[in-house]
Amino acid sequence: MAAKTTSAPNLMFSHMGISVTDIEKMETFYTHVLGFAVTDRGEAAGMQIVFLSRDPMDHHQIVLATGRPAQLPANTANPQFGPSINQISFKMGSLADLRDIHERLTTGGGTDLFPANHGIAWSIYAHDPEGNNLEFFVDTDWYVTQPFLIPLELSKTDAEIAALTKELCENSAGYEPYGDWRDRVAKRMTPFAATAGVAH
Ligand SMILES: [Fe+2]
Repeated sequence: MAAKTTSAPNLMFSHMGISVTDIEKMETFYTHVLGFAVTDRGEAAGMQIVFLSRDPMDHHQIVLATGRPAQLPANTANPQFGPSINQISFKMGSLADLRDIHERLTTGGGTDLFPANHGIAWSIYAHDPEGNNLEFFVDTDWYVTQPFLIPLELSKTDAEIAALTKELCENSAGYEPYGDWRDRVAKRMTPFAATAGVAH
């Protein structure tokens, strides 16, 4: 029986856990390259656990926990994306931030970097040291029907990327200002409909 969406209690996505093999190596990457703080660490349920956050309002945003099997199969459709966790995605503020993380990933142990333009966002996909697919992205001001994915040419200037993307979006299926799309889709996201526009 389909759930009655209007009766769903409030749910806000909060954090995720990653099963790891080399917890020290993974902690170093998530702290030194991505800037997370270790908020706690310890052992429970047979696992070594490291809690990581970049927001004092969240005790942890990422949990690293031991127990990953020695071998995991690759995603059968596209090896950039994970066999179970397809992507772990971080929102950033600007193209300058995106260029910064590109440099940090390149020098800090990220692999398989793949800059992508989604129209609605500029992204860099990359693998962490254990092959989990991360995405770093910046929202644009324009909505187009997803999925939409073409290479992002970071050799262009920020202004060139913005102008090119705006024109691309305006000529792509489903185009509308992202704000208009957000207003419309908020009405489908009960119980947020009553508070659309209110942050969190
Ligand atoms: Fe994504």
